[in-house]
Amino acid sequence: RMYAVVGATVTTSEASRGPASAGPPPPITEESIDYNPPRGTRDFAPDEMRLRSWLFQRFREVSRLFAFEEVDFPVLESEALFVRKAGEEITQQLYNFEDKSGRRVSLRPELTPSLARLVLQKGKGLPFPVKWFAIGQCWRYERMTRGRRREHYQWNMDILGISGVEAEAELLAAIVTFFKKVGITSEDVGIRVSNRKVLQSVLGRFGVPNESFAAVCVVVDKIEKIARDEVEGELLKLGVSKDAADGILSALSLRTLAELEALLGSENEAATELKQLFALVDVYGFSDWLSFDASVVRGLAYYTGTVFEGFDKAGKLRAICGGGRYDRLLSTFGGEDTPACGFGFGDAVIVELLKERQLLPALQQDVDCIVFSLEDTLRPQAGLVARTLRDAGYAVELVLESKKMKWAFKHAERLQAKHLVLLGSSEWERGCVRIKNLISREEKDVAIDELVTEVDMLKE
Ligand code: HAM
Repeated sequence: RMYAVVGATVTTSEASRGPASAGPPPPITEESIDYNPPRGTRDFAPDEMRLRSWLFQRFREVSRLFAFEEVDFPVLESEALFVRKAGEEITQQLYNFEDKSGRRVSLRPELTPSLARLVLQKGKGLPFPVKWFAIGQCWRYERMTRGRRREHYQWNMDILGISGVEAEAELLAAIVTFFKKVGITSEDVGIRVSNRKVLQSVLGRFGVPNESFAAVCVVVDKIEKIARDEVEGELLKLGVSKDAADGILSALSLRTLAELEALLGSENEAATELKQLFALVDVYGFSDWLSFDASVVRGLAYYTGTVFEGFDKAGKLRAICGGGRYDRLLSTFGGEDTPACGFGFGDAVIVELLKERQLLPALQQDVDCIVFSLEDTLRPQAGLVARTLRDAGYAVELVLESKKMKWAFKHAERLQAKHLVLLGSSEWERGCVRIKNLISREEKDVAIDELVTEVDMLKE
């Protein structure tokens, strides 16, 4: 059978050996495929996959420290779950289509609606508060820039059933714990915090109806990306008066709680909640990571209270993570209003940041032993030796073909294996294998039934 590929036509036997050798490429055939993944998506070859696993392990470890349980949902959901009318970018970026039975479906652009769906599905039987985390791939048809792609993985932590800012404090503490775990300090990143009730109060003063609130937030969130005039224009289109638009935009410039209180009064809900949150975080001991910044609104329509985003202090990257309180999302799906808040933490921007700070670990494949038979006739026995070591929990690379000794050493070096176990007929006849510690370079013959003990000892 032939495999047609771009630039080369290779037979199955060649294909099994890897890419075809260089030479003038034959013409591209009709069956040709592009070697690259679709624009904006990634392959995870071993190097990238090791890094991804490393990152996800840290996400999982932090979630465990906070006693959150892991959940997951389908990547494909009903489109209706993501359709909202507030004009959010995310709803215009859906990877949506009709399936073979005519149902409107979409790849998920985020995890929160699925989480809400699952909570509603579980109903009253679900013990509250719910503390769940998930790590999942999300799809958005984005215009691509640094750290922004068409698929990304997001770590989410969400708490449902807690209306007090203790929930926000817990989530922020988890984010800070993660940053510390990967070596990032509060000199590198900060978390800006605000509360959508700030905008709500300002809108209330100007008599803007509550129904416009979500749409106004979505527009105001664009202030960093589009010109102020344009934002004002869009607000006017939503029926917000010029005075109200000016009021909103000037409220966004507030950077201290004192200024906020001066504008809204100390009894105002937004001011009270923010003060409570900052007081809690102060006692928890991570206030150096947080700042109040009224310009943080976040682009998702469902946030109702606290909103926050992690950012790099050098100002080179997009938001590292973002989240907030969404007390009314469940009722928009026909459930009861349920206090809820959470965050999404992408895998792309953080890797960019770790790269810049030279905090990315040098990750290697984790192989303990290489088992290699010097003669082809001993290959079955080599399999048995590998099995013995694997049963004892060691990661074993079994050499599956005829190779020279020199190759085996090079191979061991490349994999940074700790031991090379050699099978030769004279040792095997004596019931032994030869074992070489690749770190100390010591070498000796070991009886088969003492092999595991020997490897254990060498490990120590
Ligand atoms: P979001 O702000 O849309 O929130 O996304 C959260 C994070 O996901 C962003 O800060 C960024 O790290 C990452 N992210 C989003 N889009 C992309 C992209 N195109 N490429 C790379 N990374 C991206 C949400 O999605 C909310 N559902 C978060 C949440 C959970 N709120 C409450 N619970």
